[in-house]
Amino acid sequence: METIIKKLDGSEKDREVLREAGEMIRRGDLVAFPTETVYGLGGNGLNPSSSRAIYAAKGRPSDNPLILHIADREELLPLVREIPPAAEKLMEAFWPGPLTLIFKKSELVPKETTGGLDTVAVRMPSHPGAAALIRAAGVPIAAPSANTSGRPSPTCAEHVYQDLRGRIPLILDGGECEIGLESTIVDISRRIPEILRPGRIGLAALRQLLGTVSVDPAVLGKPDEKTAPRAPGMKYRHYAPQVPLTLVAGPDEKRAEYICEAARRAAEAGEKTGALICRETLPLYQAEAGDHLLLIPLGARSRPEETAHSLFGTLRHLDECGLSHVYSETFDEGPLGPAIMNRLRKAAAFDIRDLSES
Ligand code: TXA
Ligand code: MG
Repeated sequence: METIIKKLDGSEKDREVLREAGEMIRRGDLVAFPTETVYGLGGNGLNPSSSRAIYAAKGRPSDNPLILHIADREELLPLVREIPPAAEKLMEAFWPGPLTLIFKKSELVPKETTGGLDTVAVRMPSHPGAAALIRAAGVPIAAPSANTSGRPSPTCAEHVYQDLRGRIPLILDGGECEIGLESTIVDISRRIPEILRPGRIGLAALRQLLGTVSVDPAVLGKPDEKTAPRAPGMKYRHYAPQVPLTLVAGPDEKRAEYICEAARRAAEAGEKTGALICRETLPLYQAEAGDHLLLIPLGARSRPEETAHSLFGTLRHLDECGLSHVYSETFDEGPLGPAIMNRLRKAAAFDIRDLSES
């Protein structure tokens, strides 16, 4: 199958492009499209065979449920059994935007879309192209991130093309995604709302609105039998580059020394090391940088939104740099810290060296 890329650039032509793309989705084809978080791989969310096609195109396990994307509040009612008061508050405050809510599902939503669960994830994206596509399709759009399963989520059309070329007919290119990390997922189908995946809308903002909010333990730690994540997708190896990645926590000077020393040792074996660092600590590494140590800045610590924005693109880029090992600083600061660290811990397969005590 040939994969065509069509631009969404805010011009008059968008209307026709979106009309055709909406038509394709309604009749069962798949279309990748931009949102404010990451690119989605969209299909008709009410059509079981569209959902099966999404799993096949991504190489995704079919027990991993999809998010339904809607453009207007009226579209929610037919999809869910009830709308709890906590959901009303969250939708009022954060929709449209990077927040996905888990509801008890109605009969209308096929089990194929929800990976067999009797709950359904719903999100109303704020990206104008995404909203226009949903309206053009006239059905809720089921869309996971438009990457091959296990790869970092795509934040531009080129990433989608790298992963899904030849597997889907159309990619809508709306440029780079503003946020660069996937939506926050909150389960409001239970008594105490719970964060299943951290995103730009953080715990503090949610608590301010709802009072008590819990965090799925799997968000922070390595999943094991006891902490099987409640969002099925969070149990899979994810975001991982081919090259081994180690996170290094602790004081800035100490970890710069540790990483530079590791790079020197690797250089003796003829190997090249990479370091994901922030702009503020760059001077600590500069003396060592060279053929054996590649410095890869991940934005400034004072501007975590830059780090979030560039993270997935950087993780994709790592495998093209001829590195034998990559070390990364930790990026815990600010409200985006938990979301960034959640992705980095998974990308590192939970390989973390903590220098705080030693
Ligand atoms: O920002 C986003 O949410 C992007 C854009 C495209 O909207 N989508 C996205 O979808 O990240 P995906 O499929 O890559 O991640 C959805 C996550 C998975 O971890 C899945 O297991 C979880 O949401 N999920 C979906 N439905 C669920 C449900 N009913 N209960 C618990 N977790 C659910
Ligand atoms: Mg995904």
